[in-house]
Amino acid sequence: MLVLGIETSCDETGVALYDSHAGLLGDALYSQVKMHAEYGGVVPELASRDHVRKLIPLVREVCAQADRSLSSLDAIAYTSGPGLIGALMVGASTGRALALALGIPAVGIHHMEGHLLAPMLEDNPPSFPFVALLVSGGHTQLVRVDAIGEYELLGESLDDAAGEAFDKAAKMMGMDYPGGPLIAKAAMQGDASKYNFPRPMTDRPGLDFSFSGLKTFTLNTVEAERLDDGSLPEQVKFNIAAAFEEAVVETLAIKCRRALQQTGLKQLVIAGGVSANQTLRARLDEVVRKERAGLFYARPQFCTDNGAMIAYAGCQRLLAGERSPLAITTRPRWPMDTLHPLGADSNG
Ligand code: KG4
Ligand code: ZN
Repeated sequence: MLVLGIETSCDETGVALYDSHAGLLGDALYSQVKMHAEYGGVVPELASRDHVRKLIPLVREVCAQADRSLSSLDAIAYTSGPGLIGALMVGASTGRALALALGIPAVGIHHMEGHLLAPMLEDNPPSFPFVALLVSGGHTQLVRVDAIGEYELLGESLDDAAGEAFDKAAKMMGMDYPGGPLIAKAAMQGDASKYNFPRPMTDRPGLDFSFSGLKTFTLNTVEAERLDDGSLPEQVKFNIAAAFEEAVVETLAIKCRRALQQTGLKQLVIAGGVSANQTLRARLDEVVRKERAGLFYARPQFCTDNGAMIAYAGCQRLLAGERSPLAITTRPRWPMDTLHPLGADSNG
């Protein structure tokens, strides 16, 4: 089955072709990051308009890459939530209309299920069941995954998502959006031991997270370090970035270890934009070694938003016979643990 995957939930237009036998045949991404950078965050209306401009050219590009025509498609998968409603509508309406014109089925996919399954595109994929840490700009969740669509929420952030905390900390230090990769880069030249950042909620039992206190701590640290002219010395930025990153990573690692122990599972999957973070990967490598477990993640470009994860997740649901109705529905808010197992009624 040859599936075209479309991702437009936020600020990246992602398109990919996935074949159930041959695997990933092509993928293309257009990031709007530069456009939103001057506003310090994603501007929803600008995002929708840019998806309209970029989506069809990217579909053509992916077909050319894979040397396939639209008429060879068996089905189309698009992100139907959660995300920005206008942005979601572009992918959903384009995907649905294209499928109708081609006389093929379409299915709406949950964005976080896409992230969760992205490591399946790698050579050594995890097998069910496993524990997944989903860490993106909008979500921080620990999930027990028994099969596709069988998700039990073990814990989640009570306030900011981990990626959002990275972005806000970066903004405080005058860095561009999205700040995660920039903090990670700055942290490499910093000394984390210069500060004593808190590890929120790690002294309490349970698997929930909270990053708002860490955000306030970062703000207070930044303000205390400002020179008389309001600037921050480069080395101070590096040190704060390192201490902040270490605090987030350590907090995530403590909860991941607890989730493995609590479930007795021996596989840990990390997915979403923050799973591209090398310090997090290295720290979780230590955790799984101690727990005699395995760690799984996608290649960096499939950790952040992309079309390949939607094509893959869509293919699995389509192979199980799922189809979304002709009505174009999007769900800007959509808890992942309300998803159906494979082959049950369509999710949306
Ligand atoms: O999954 P994603 O592309 O979009 C959402 O679904 O939100 O995640 C984007 C988030 C942003 O907050 C970004 O700063 C963060 O992932 N991010 C990182 C890194 N790369 C992306 N955070 C820390 N370290 C990174 N290397
Ligand atoms: Zn995402």
